[in-house]
Amino acid sequence: MIIIEGLVVKNEDGLQEDLEYKRLTFVYTAALQQLEGKINTLSEEFKILHKYNPIEHISSRIKSKESITNKLIKKGLDFTYENLIKTINDIAGMRIICSFIPDIYRMVEMIENMPDVTVLKKKDYVTTPKSSGYSSYHLIVSLPISLSVGVIDVKVEIQIRTMAMDFWASLEHKINYKYEKQVPKNVQKELKECAKMTQKLDKKMSNLGNTLMQEEKELVKEITADYSTVYAGFMLTENA
Ligand code: GTP
Ligand code: MG
Repeated sequence: MIIIEGLVVKNEDGLQEDLEYKRLTFVYTAALQQLEGKINTLSEEFKILHKYNPIEHISSRIKSKESITNKLIKKGLDFTYENLIKTINDIAGMRIICSFIPDIYRMVEMIENMPDVTVLKKKDYVTTPKSSGYSSYHLIVSLPISLSVGVIDVKVEIQIRTMAMDFWASLEHKINYKYEKQVPKNVQKELKECAKMTQKLDKKMSNLGNTLMQEEKELVKEITADYSTVYAGFMLTENA
């Protein structure tokens, strides 16, 4: 049995185990729900303003107990809540799947502009893919969660990518898993080639998307002007 200051990670006693994991993950679930709410609001506004939705879909997950434990072991850290909360940034994970590459950067900007969301880390694997071929934009953010006992800041890892990037990452992950991370060199090479193909596809599709957006631009200007008048009534504070 491994104990994290009262958090029983591995225990034959199912009830005890569930209760402790629930205590830990409850706040991360709340953070995911609140962040998803904010992002949905932005995406709805974008639809009204631009007659276009930059988001294909959003998914969220909470890291399993086993993965949390393994990560702490890998980092060689003691099993304490403090270590866990401070060092594991992806206990709560959100994936935003966008239509076109420019939408990824639009999402990043919109998240950065959220007044109560703090961006702690940014990694742009879209401009510079990883050596594996992996491509995505990663953000580690924190947001305040109001509880009856007070307010706590909770971290969420956000991965923003296109459908093509997601397709590649999901299958590459499956292949990696099958080979238990000992992927033969020739398979690695082929995966990189596939990544290049998805990058090419994304670029071509994004060019088509740009043409679409260009045609809408004049119309958008008019609509935006209309809406700023409406929002001014709410004491609109514009983004810096
Ligand atoms: P962890 O890997 O989570 O410990 O964090 P890190 O700071 O080393 O990570 P990074 O931001 O590079 O990656 C975090 C997450 O991105 C991973 O947990 C995966 O979900 C995803 N990821 C990173 N690299 C790859 C890759 O080569 N293939 C796939 N399929 N996913 C990847
Ligand atoms: Mg991770």
